[in-house]
Order: sequence, then C-alpha cells, then structure tokens
Amino acid sequence: MAIPERQILVCQSFRLKGDPKGVCHKKTDGFLQFIEEEIIDRGLDMHVVATGCMKQCDAGPVMVVQPENWWFQNVDSEAAIEAILDGLEDGEPAADYLLR
Ligand code: FES
Repeated sequence: MAIPERQILVCQSFRLKGDPKGVCHKKTDGFLQFIEEEIIDRGLDMHVVATGCMKQCDAGPVMVVQPENWWFQNVDSEAAIEAILDGLEDGEPAADYLLR
C-alpha cells in the first residue's frame, strides 16, 4: 500500500492506564467512519488515525491534519468535518475551527 499524502488525526482520548479518559471520544461517535467515507467520496489521499489525548481537552473534540499541522477545535458535527475537508481541498484551513 502506498504511503498517503496526508493524515487526519482524530483524538479518541486514550491515556495511560489509570488516568481518566479525556472528553473528545464522547463527542465523536461515528466520526471515524464518516471521515473515512468523505475522504473516499472526495478522492483525497489521506488516512484517518485515531489518537490518544492530544492535551487540548478544553478545545475538544480535536483533530489535526498533517503534514500541514493544522489543528482544529470543537469538531463536534459532520458539518464541521465537511468544512475542514472543504478547506483542505481549497488549500486553506477552515478558520471557524482553527485552534490557535
Ligand atoms: S481527550 Fe482529546 S485532547 Fe484530550
């Protein structure tokens, strides 16, 4: 399998055993599948990666596009995901969700 051009990292709140799990996973039920379907529909060369806590819990749910290193906050709806992927296709990060 070829190495993808990009990855979208989706916080799923994993932490070391014993630490309480963060918040992002509670607000992103079904998002991994939705993102995967959107990527396929749009023909993007991108992998979806579920990650541990990205230490930005107050801004969660958090997602990151690499290699651009665009961090997004409050990604709590399919509309937000669509805006982020629209921005990626346009070459600009979706300003409404950009984590600064
Ligand atoms: S649980 Fe997502 S940033 Fe901490």
